[in-house]
Amino acid sequence: MSIALGSDHGGYLLKEVIKEWLKKKGHIVEDFGTHSLETCDYPNIAYEVAKSVADGRHSRGVIICGTGIGVSIVANKVPGIRAALCHDTFSAKASREHNDANILTMGERVIGRGLALEILEAWLSVDFAGGRHERRVDIINSIDKDFK
Ligand code: RB5
Repeated sequence: MSIALGSDHGGYLLKEVIKEWLKKKGHIVEDFGTHSLETCDYPNIAYEVAKSVADGRHSRGVIICGTGIGVSIVANKVPGIRAALCHDTFSAKASREHNDANILTMGERVIGRGLALEILEAWLSVDFAGGRHERRVDIINSIDKDFK
């Protein structure tokens, strides 16, 4: 899978762990930064990751900040993005199965690395279920179009 990755300083260390894990699993990763613990503004990075998924450069995105909240707010402003903030594996799987989430966000200050990787693995392993969920995702996509 081709995956866009990003974080601010609050998610930098977890992003680095995730990057190595994804590469080891054979995924293609583009790292949109940040590249150090120096303070930076999460909206800029989240926006770049989200655009790269929305325009098809990458099939999925993963964005980390301190809480996962700020980056998910930003990513969900980009038409075509369905970003899911998940801190448990049940939600991660459901976000794929029900919502066809194309971006996963997590908070480095909220969960440990082991759980974060389990959540990521679960999120990557589940397909969209379609069926009745397809109709609902279509409604989400039609809302995007209202604001174009
Ligand atoms: C940065 O201090 C922090 O606000 C950011 O990482 C994130 O948690 C925002 O939602």
